[in-house]
Amino acid sequence: MKINFKDLTNEQFLAEYWQKKPLLIKGAFEQFNDPIEADELAGLAMEEFIESRIVSNPNKQWDVKHGPFADFSEFGESDWTLLVQAVNHWFKGVDDLIEPFRFIPNWRIDDVMVSFSTPGGGVGPHLDQYDVFIIQGSGKRRWRVGAPDASLAELLPHEDLKQVSDFNSVIDEITEPGDLLYIPPNHPHDGIAIDNSINYSIGFLAPSSQELLSGLADYNLDNNLNANRFDDSQRQVTNTPEQLTSTDIDLLTKTLQQSLSDPKVVGDFLGKYLTTVHHTLNLLIPVEPLTIDFIKEILNDGEELEPVLGVKCILHTAQDDEAVLDNKNNRLFINGEVFAVDNESLDFAKLLASKNTLGINVLKTHLDCLKNQQLLTTVINKGLWSFE
Ligand code: SIN
Ligand code: CO
Repeated sequence: MKINFKDLTNEQFLAEYWQKKPLLIKGAFEQFNDPIEADELAGLAMEEFIESRIVSNPNKQWDVKHGPFADFSEFGESDWTLLVQAVNHWFKGVDDLIEPFRFIPNWRIDDVMVSFSTPGGGVGPHLDQYDVFIIQGSGKRRWRVGAPDASLAELLPHEDLKQVSDFNSVIDEITEPGDLLYIPPNHPHDGIAIDNSINYSIGFLAPSSQELLSGLADYNLDNNLNANRFDDSQRQVTNTPEQLTSTDIDLLTKTLQQSLSDPKVVGDFLGKYLTTVHHTLNLLIPVEPLTIDFIKEILNDGEELEPVLGVKCILHTAQDDEAVLDNKNNRLFINGEVFAVDNESLDFAKLLASKNTLGINVLKTHLDCLKNQQLLTTVINKGLWSFE
């Protein structure tokens, strides 16, 4: 599946719209077929380990209920929407919806939320902190999107529902199957279903400085890193002991900055942090750990390996100068874990990180290397890759 950006190139999209302006592309996907049916989505919302909610607004009374749901009959025929998080972890066809967006790095992409809305259903006008592409599946919806506006009032019509006051639209259109809407962070938007409507939201991650600092602090504590203390060995006598001087503020700031001074520590933290998923993965952990000989046997029988849907993999390859100094500077991050990759294993690590199906033809040359064998065995025994 490819996005038909019409006369816009990916480069122009990034330069003109990405994080700047909303955009609606009519007919971005030709002959779009829903990769999931409404009743399959409802089935996911019945599972305890899947995050789902129903937002309803009959007679303008907003209500939010959280899954799992046993049945949906109480909601009637209109004015509600079911939202299910990380549906790409469970339906391959939904995960495939991410493919057209690979002109943006994998680590930026979070997951695919799917909603089913009855006529009148929606979550009301609101802001999101992240970029989102919304694909219109079956049905129609009226979407309005505005520009950032500091004068909008924050509303809380229900304790679990943040909304904003009404906004001026820069986009006000009816979306039909295959249309694509891009909404940058902090742009007010509101989608109201016209008929039963399925929407796919490809959500992006943009960690805040607060989140990164708190994640790094946890990482340092867990790994006993950056335990350096404030150093004032060059202190001079003070006549103003009540003061915190600018010199001391500089020294304290340096203590903080040391946490960010080692690119390897920061890189390891970022790789682990950005590959940690926040929704359940359908891990297929073998009952008994598989040996490399057994894995090779199955591959030779023609079976293929697939990564678990939704698993996050990032490859960081060392810059030339780093690579000469230490060829372990290539690192593969999978699901919050780091694997050192030497230059000999780099192609194999790229294969894993690209998350393609792996059959014997693709793997053959790589499996002569002991380190590759160990890496493959590890990811299979953790349930991160499995035979179809
Ligand atoms: C949706 O209802 O499908 C998307 C909700 C949103 O705008 O975040
Ligand atoms: Co939104």
